[in-house]
Amino acid sequence: MEIQVLDKTFVPFISGSEIQDRLKELAQQIQADMQGEVPVFIGVLNGSFMVVSDLMKHYSGACEMSFIKMASYIGTQSSNQVNQLLGLDIDITDRRIIVVEDIVDTGNTLVALKELFEQHRPKEIKIFTLCLKPEAYTKSIPLDYVGFEIANKFIVGYGMDYDKHGRNIPEIYQIK
Ligand code: IMP
Ligand code: MG
Repeated sequence: MEIQVLDKTFVPFISGSEIQDRLKELAQQIQADMQGEVPVFIGVLNGSFMVVSDLMKHYSGACEMSFIKMASYIGTQSSNQVNQLLGLDIDITDRRIIVVEDIVDTGNTLVALKELFEQHRPKEIKIFTLCLKPEAYTKSIPLDYVGFEIANKFIVGYGMDYDKHGRNIPEIYQIK
């Protein structure tokens, strides 16, 4: 069924059970890749709060987790103007970290995040994103774990917002 968020209409796109099934698969894959090591999952707020919560429920290995909050960029051209608002509260030096994003669009946010994390000399940085828009992604940073490759159309729900609204919708909707 169609839904309305502010002035826009959205249609169902990825159901709750599809999301859970995919998160379970990826959690198992990460666990196999980590080979008994203790990774640090770092969720990028606000958008990743639901992804981190559900991904972690499917991950049964030892791990640590934290969150980082970035200011959203102003205008697409100011690519590296992504500022850290809420900082890391965990020492990631020599640790294997997994950055958890809701969606990678142009990849500008990711580039800034990676630069930031590299300053702390982690042992390894892996990138997890629930959604990826391959047509929009222009960067060369490899994405290690991708939930869904989607068309270059705006989506909302499951943590992702349209003008701050719609983050609480439990499934993913696409703009009509
Ligand atoms: P990027 O820096 O262009 O990769 O954009 C990443 C950020 O923009 C994501 O973390 C989201 O917060 C936001 N974003 C990009 N595409 C969408 C979308 O379709 N719906 C909601 N937010 C989006
Ligand atoms: Mg985000």
